[in-house]
Amino acid sequence: MPAAGWRPSPLARGGETSIGGPGRGVFVTVEGVDFSGKSTLVRHLKSIFAGPESGLPGLYFTREPGGTPAAERIRGVLLDPGLEMEPWTEAYLYAAARADHVRREILPRLEAGQSVLCERYLHSSLAYQGAGRGLGMEEVRSLNGRAAAGAVPDRTFYLRLGAEERALRGREAGTPLDRLESAGDDFARRVEEGFEELVLGEPGRIRALDARRPPEELAQEVRQEILSLHRAAPGGTV
Ligand code: TMP
Repeated sequence: MPAAGWRPSPLARGGETSIGGPGRGVFVTVEGVDFSGKSTLVRHLKSIFAGPESGLPGLYFTREPGGTPAAERIRGVLLDPGLEMEPWTEAYLYAAARADHVRREILPRLEAGQSVLCERYLHSSLAYQGAGRGLGMEEVRSLNGRAAAGAVPDRTFYLRLGAEERALRGREAGTPLDRLESAGDDFARRVEEGFEELVLGEPGRIRALDARRPPEELAQEVRQEILSLHRAAPGGTV
């Protein structure tokens, strides 16, 4: 499905908006370091928004890297713990997966008035490849300018979790680590610092949430904010 009508534009920072228009859906993302509980939060949100009282029927859930058949294949390469690759290769692969996902799934839905919630998106590239791998957040933002086709989230929910709690959750998870999760403590610390820099730079767009709070409570708060964004969107009626 082509995303007619959307033009590549520089990716917005604090305050700017680059997608919009009457009747378009709301675009939100959930971000955080590994083990911050994103998937648990999203699971709760899926069940809340599936209910008859959700207030926003048809919210579309997706994730990155992934969301289309090609992007899911790229995900397999990116997370394979048996593969080594250069940081720029990694950055381009995340951007390549995003280019497919944005054009085939995200933008057409937003244009058709459907709202979209994406687990991880652009800010993960800025924090993981820009800060974590040391490529530079502005360089990675610029690489993603074309990949993301100007699709900037209306709101990003960042699950904040400190290093100690993250290490504890990682040990308790007991599952095999993927390529990014096994990149080490220093890498994880730089990623966290990257996210914190983004929160400071985009205070209106990124909402930091304490990841230690009960997921049910976080999910209700996120739901309320999504509904208010929807009400405030041009043509929004909830
Ligand atoms: P997850 O979806 O299970 O969290 O796994 C995705 C991994 O990919 C996670 O470690 C974060 C990483 N990632 C990046 O490094 N850059 C990106 O742009 C995205 C979307 C994810």
